[in-house]
Amino acid sequence: MSKKVYIETYGCQMNVADSEVVMSILLKAGYESTDNINEAGLILINTCSIRDNAEQRIWGRLTAISHLKKRNNELKIGIIGCMAERLKEKLIETDQLVDIVVGPDAYRELPLLVNEAEAGHKAVNVLLSREETYADISPVRMDKNGVSSFVSIMRGCNNMCAYCVVPYVRGAERSRNPGSIVKETRELFEKGYREVTLLGQNVDSYKWTNDNENIGFAKLLEKIASIDPLLRVRFSTSHPKDISDDLLHTIARHDNICKHIHLPAQSGSSRILKLMNREYTREWYMDRVDAIRTIVPQCALSTDMITGFCTETEEDHKESLSLMEWAGFDFAYMFKYSQRPGTKAARKFKDDVPETIKSERLSEMISLQNKVSAKSKKKDVGKVFEVLIEGSSKRSSEHLSGRTSQNKVVVFPKDDHDKGEYVRVNIERSTSATLIGKITGQ
Ligand code: 5AD
Ligand code: SF4
Repeated sequence: MSKKVYIETYGCQMNVADSEVVMSILLKAGYESTDNINEAGLILINTCSIRDNAEQRIWGRLTAISHLKKRNNELKIGIIGCMAERLKEKLIETDQLVDIVVGPDAYRELPLLVNEAEAGHKAVNVLLSREETYADISPVRMDKNGVSSFVSIMRGCNNMCAYCVVPYVRGAERSRNPGSIVKETRELFEKGYREVTLLGQNVDSYKWTNDNENIGFAKLLEKIASIDPLLRVRFSTSHPKDISDDLLHTIARHDNICKHIHLPAQSGSSRILKLMNREYTREWYMDRVDAIRTIVPQCALSTDMITGFCTETEEDHKESLSLMEWAGFDFAYMFKYSQRPGTKAARKFKDDVPETIKSERLSEMISLQNKVSAKSKKKDVGKVFEVLIEGSSKRSSEHLSGRTSQNKVVVFPKDDHDKGEYVRVNIERSTSATLIGKITGQ
């Protein structure tokens, strides 16, 4: 009987894409995939290290599944991904439940490492690579809808943001062969997928040199958009220091490149941005937002913000708020600064903003963003948007749910439509998270 593997994924979209690569590697090695953790012979937890609470969640999860191991002493548990890379052998020393530890660049070794664990040895491989992109591996899709999927275009990160653990756990930046990206995307389209999100820590610095051609991100995006006009293309994440007018013109030129840019600002204070090593100022960020508004007028904009970074004053915090208000972000992810061991900030600066102040600033930021998001949704009422249907709405099987090009969720009565189709929806009202409307013939 073949052994069943269950993969649980935490963290970002990149981890979701990686779990699909891991599943592909294991299926090839004779494993079978299961959605039921109770029947698994191998449990893999794909982990995140971005903030301390992400790691705490994983420790909690390990405790929660410890009874499974008592019930089945053949069961093997593996920690893979960013936390595996950060803590290495320490993971096994801390928790005897863990049999296997594998970092993001060592997934090809998984079958071997599982064998080792089955022979009774703890197995660890956390080597980072300068070349690995898993370009030749066809990920096993684990999405539920069959409409939208992720395609990884690069790995690692060369930016050295002072707060961030990613360069340490995911290694140096490397771009994936564009031919393999186009091939994987075309196959998805042929299987019925209608949307891909191209993933990288900093997609603007995608770079590939063929014999005599330099392919940057704008060119890659154009290649993907040209596969079929019915295929929507999204991408994440863009870095404000690198986002070029050339890229913006490419986005404007193609109807099927989604009009949404996720452009993490992190802070609105130039002094804090400098300490964060972000390599841009508040003014530079504002100039890039102006460029987006001019070149791609219909574009939605979202961001990431950190409150309470080392030395952040009330003044700095106010500058973050005023930037958010000025930019009118459609959406924002907001976080309290969490010191990560080994990063530049941990080595050089004191984590000196008290927890209570971080929390206060975060709440203030969230309530501001709620107002800004509501305003952005109100502006959509009365307009007609093209919506790609993703499936039934969560609340009612009589309603469908999909997204606009701007990445806003729209719910509307079903009529006789189905997922994967495009419809035009007239927006009649908005709630805090959703636009609500009806399909229109216009
Ligand atoms: N503390 C808090 N937030 C962080 N992020 C990255 N590192 C940290 C940290 N140490 C946030 C940034 C990034 C997002 C993915 O997570 O905003 O854009
Ligand atoms: Fe993703 Fe960063 Fe978390 Fe790793 S640490 S899973 S790259 S968010």
